[in-house]
Amino acid sequence: MAFASSALLPVAPVSDNCMIELREIEKRYPTGDTETVVLRDVSFRIDAGEFVAIMGPSGSGKSTLMHILGLLDAPSHGTYLLEGTDVAALPEDERAAIRSRRIGFVFQAFNLLPRATVFRNVALPLVYAGMARRVRRAHIERALTAAGLPADRWQHRSNQLSGGQMQRVAIARALVNDPALLLADEPTGNLDTATGEVVLETFQRLHQEAHRTIVLITHEQYVAEHAQRILHIRDGAIREDIRNHAPRIARITSPHAHP
Ligand SMILES: Nc1ncnc2c1ncn2[C@@H]1O[C@H](COP(=O)(O)OP(=O)(O)O)[C@@H](O)[C@H]1O
Ligand SMILES: [Mg+2]
Repeated sequence: MAFASSALLPVAPVSDNCMIELREIEKRYPTGDTETVVLRDVSFRIDAGEFVAIMGPSGSGKSTLMHILGLLDAPSHGTYLLEGTDVAALPEDERAAIRSRRIGFVFQAFNLLPRATVFRNVALPLVYAGMARRVRRAHIERALTAAGLPADRWQHRSNQLSGGQMQRVAIARALVNDPALLLADEPTGNLDTATGEVVLETFQRLHQEAHRTIVLITHEQYVAEHAQRILHIRDGAIREDIRNHAPRIARITSPHAHP
């Protein structure tokens, strides 16, 4: 009797709140007549609402892992369940649809269109998603406000902004589709320490107030300590998975950061 419904259970272990589940992910690249193994036996889960840092030295496989988490690349082996869906098995058009609706990306190099206005940069994901112009405005304003960019900057061209402001625009662009998951690859890597705090403060606020799920990739212990949980990666394998019970609190101190 207790097992009567077990045949109906999905293969995945049921978790009310699981955002990401990786099982035995591997990534290999052919190199000449041999192979380079970049990720080996990577398995972990991230629940909705977690703020997790993935930390490791340069070349440890962080960006490769982020590309897999963001459906920009597929693993050579293993299972990836995103919100319970086995995404590794999906055709590219369905992966692209999930990517644009459910995932927001923030990169080290901001990747903004330099001569387009802030507003236009943040509008683009909505344009690609086919949202009508008249309904876009409210979404754009909400995202820019959440990312903390003052309204007097919204009509500036993005190349007229400071580094910290550019990263705020990139965060707004990542948020505008209201993604379930925010992925950030070395988002403070091009910023000085004080400006980096501005970005970390934004992530902490998005996590605490908006309960966003955030995966922050970094090679710096100091940056990782702003997250609730730290996964250490080395030579393509997860070596440690640590709860950070007392995350460092980002503080905006420098007037030059111009938040
Ligand atoms: N397309 C590729 N072909 C072969 N090797 C690659 C490729 N992409 C990445 N690698 C290798 O995988 C390793 C991890 O790279 P990456 O994920 O960018 O590390 P990280 O972001 O931690 O610096 C590096 O040794 C890199 O040279
Ligand atoms: Mg990298």
